[in-house]
Amino acid sequence: MGCTVRINVGKGYDVHIGAGLLDRAGQLISDAVGKTRAAIITDSNVAPLYAQRLEKSLNAAGIETFTYIFPAGEENKRLTTLSNILEVLAENGFSRTDTVVALGGGVAGDMAGFAAAVYLRGVRYVQVPTTLLAAVDSSVGGKTAVDLQAGKNLAGAFKQPEVVICDTDTLKTLPDHEIANGMAETIKYGVLFSEELFAQLEKGRPDDLTDIIRQCVALKGYIVEIDETEKNERRLLNLGHTIGHAVEKCSNFGISHGHAVAAGMAIIARAGEKMGITQKGTADRIEKILLANDLPISADYADSDLAAAAMSDKKRAGGNITLVLPEKIGSCILKTEPLNMLEEYVREGR
Ligand SMILES: NC(=O)c1ccc[n+]([C@@H]2O[C@H](COP(=O)([O-])OP(=O)(O)OC[C@H]3O[C@@H](n4cnc5c(N)ncnc54)[C@H](O)[C@@H]3O)[C@@H](O)[C@H]2O)c1
Ligand SMILES: [Zn+2]
Repeated sequence: MGCTVRINVGKGYDVHIGAGLLDRAGQLISDAVGKTRAAIITDSNVAPLYAQRLEKSLNAAGIETFTYIFPAGEENKRLTTLSNILEVLAENGFSRTDTVVALGGGVAGDMAGFAAAVYLRGVRYVQVPTTLLAAVDSSVGGKTAVDLQAGKNLAGAFKQPEVVICDTDTLKTLPDHEIANGMAETIKYGVLFSEELFAQLEKGRPDDLTDIIRQCVALKGYIVEIDETEKNERRLLNLGHTIGHAVEKCSNFGISHGHAVAAGMAIIARAGEKMGITQKGTADRIEKILLANDLPISADYADSDLAAAAMSDKKRAGGNITLVLPEKIGSCILKTEPLNMLEEYVREGR
């Protein structure tokens, strides 16, 4: 059974979640944006699996399409790929009434969204997430970005989609490692906001992820509604990310984002318990659920290296860093600390 979550940011948009939605995408996009042409932006892994079905569905709804395929992988989330996308839009005479459709994971979504934000100073775009991570996280909320030499996501724009269409059937072709990546962010929502979601996930991952995705999207939607540009509450979504980003960096990005965030969550929960901020037993529950989802609970780098890598994180403000700490499952707080405390957190979280 499918479902729809409404996100009330800007003029608002629907997130449709369910099996078989790829074949209904044409109608759903047409309902959301009216008469339009569409540029499907997708990567070299996703294109052979799903591009034709999406094209067919759009064409059947009277939407003319062309498709641009970039080589899959985070290493291609770059200005050069963005530039290629913009040139292709221009070559095809793409106009203000046309629509960019991102088909794929967070990389396709971030780049297509950024292209839509800047092409002709903004055209509409639609997200069709095909990874669990994109479904629960990157496709909702309007952040778009590319990576620079100096770091990840350093150039970007806020741009909300017109509609998000998540066909849960597409998740069936995801490699286990990518499912685990998405589960780390899913578990994060439980720790942050919902003991009920967390307890549900403790029972094991269901085959049909529709309801899990619905809960995560609704939680992220709520946070984005109250703090679209990440001044306050949206910063909670960085749970596990300060240390997680440091783990990614120390591994030279050999450890993927979700796996690094998992380690970051476990470390900060253990540190929180030792410092008397986090209820006893919380770290244990977090560790168990991460391990059950084939995710790591620690990282093999020196405390000082992790702390140094975390300090270079773009989210630091002045001499302070704002950390997200669990009080208990379902409730977290923001705590601003001097930068030099970071190493202590990493050490306490060992
Ligand atoms: N904008 C945001 O708010 C936000 C939030 C979180 C993450 N992100 C970004 O998202 C990116 C990570 O997203 P991701 O994990 O989806 O990465 P991704 O897009 O690279 O996808 C992971 C891999 O899975 C493949 N793939 C995608 N869908 C598939 C399917 N259905 N079947 C088989 N293979 C499939 C891709 O080709 C790729 O190889 C990062 O760049 C990160 O910065 C953005
Ligand atoms: Zn993340």
